[in-house]
Amino acid sequence: MKNICMVGTGYVGLVTGAGFAELGNRVVCVDVDEGKIEKLKKGKIPFFEEGLEKLIRKNIEKEKLSFTTSLKEGVANSEVIFIAVGTPSKETGEADLSYVIRVAEDLSFLISDYKIIAVKSTVPVGTLELVTEILGKRGKVKGKDFDIASTPEFLREGNAVYDFFHPSRVIIGCDNSRVGKTLEEIFTPLKAPIVHTSPAAAQMIKYASNTFLACRISFINEIANICEKVGADVVEVAKGMGYDKRIGEGYLNAGIGFGGPCLIKDLKALIKIAEDKGYEAGFLKAILEKNEHQIRTIVYKVKNFLGEPLYEKKIGVLGLTFKQGTSDVRNSLSLKVLELLQKEGARIKAYDPQGMEEARNALNEVEFAKDPYEVADGSDILLILTGWEEFKKLDFKRIKRNLKNPFIVDGVNLLSPERMRKAGFNYKGVGRS
Ligand SMILES: NC(=O)c1ccc[n+]([C@@H]2O[C@H](COP(=O)([O-])OP(=O)(O)OC[C@H]3O[C@@H](n4cnc5c(N)ncnc54)[C@H](O)[C@@H]3O)[C@@H](O)[C@H]2O)c1
Repeated sequence: MKNICMVGTGYVGLVTGAGFAELGNRVVCVDVDEGKIEKLKKGKIPFFEEGLEKLIRKNIEKEKLSFTTSLKEGVANSEVIFIAVGTPSKETGEADLSYVIRVAEDLSFLISDYKIIAVKSTVPVGTLELVTEILGKRGKVKGKDFDIASTPEFLREGNAVYDFFHPSRVIIGCDNSRVGKTLEEIFTPLKAPIVHTSPAAAQMIKYASNTFLACRISFINEIANICEKVGADVVEVAKGMGYDKRIGEGYLNAGIGFGGPCLIKDLKALIKIAEDKGYEAGFLKAILEKNEHQIRTIVYKVKNFLGEPLYEKKIGVLGLTFKQGTSDVRNSLSLKVLELLQKEGARIKAYDPQGMEEARNALNEVEFAKDPYEVADGSDILLILTGWEEFKKLDFKRIKRNLKNPFIVDGVNLLSPERMRKAGFNYKGVGRS
């Protein structure tokens, strides 16, 4: 059992903090957001993530997990401090390290006995040195007052609790084997492969992994667009490819592209990291460009059905979050499609099982419906932009009755084209019809 301080209680910090508590550690989670901490103290989570609320309540009751806005309190009795604050994109694509820097500055005042600092946030190579330098300005010496490591996170929103307990691997990037061993003890109960690397390799593993996933999605979308030209079904193609062990089946779902808080941000950051070192990452740029183009293909499909202009056309949209299983709409491509349609003068009515509140804050002039049937009611076309399982189970006879035209554009290939055709729809998926 270890005493752990988790700094930042977002999607990563909260899940990981609660998970560490469940493994028997005593965890204090710290966040600067007072509203969030007040809610968490009562066992209420600020976003939707299956199984997380239960895990948090259980560990609060067992007095393994607590929440505070005071970093001083969090740091006081902890042996290991995990930093899990956000590292959003700057305008240039570069990772914004201001939250990490702020934590390092605060720690430089607060650390009074030896601590291990583990950076969970996704950060460029050089960040551990930067944190070390900041602590050094207040006389804190690496190796004596603290040590530092990189422990990047790979959980997926929507599966985050499962992923915490079943990680594919744990990466510990550290130049001190004793510190690496101490961190290993925390992760050992997870029974996952533990990979010790240099800090630089650990940080690059995170960027390279996310970039590779993005690459697979852009790749299969390119194949999907060719499939449409030659009359093949990309879902069959991807399935056939996935049997090959050298390829594997993950992240080969054609659709509107990759969105969310990480893939676009990390891809842009890696492009900038390379650029800053004088290397033009043309291949990575192509992955990003392909993603931006893919969003537009959805708009073309709507135009193919409804003709131009889209002015005053009513578009019904199912799905606003960047993927199913989450309430997160950060960098959601669904919202980007909506904005493109609005620019053409279309009117939007939308529904999402979990993301309505967050989408309301991010969108303008969208009518929010109470359920999918209300979305369809009077709409010229129905768009499916997030792959929520419950959309598969809708009464499509009723949807068809409510729509003005029997048109569906399925941007995530959620539905069966055959079933939709039998139900009397003109259906268009991505790479299949
Ligand atoms: N979200 C994911 O799916 C995911 C997966 C793997 C890795 N990551 C990486 O993990 C990091 C965190 O991502 P996230 O999605 O959890 O971010 P988030 O925005 O959901 O959460 C960050 C939290 O840090 C808090 N914070 C900011 N400054 C603080 C400070 N000085 N002290 C205490 N708390 C502070 C914020 O209030 C917020 O609650 C990022 O680097 C991200 O790239 C995210």
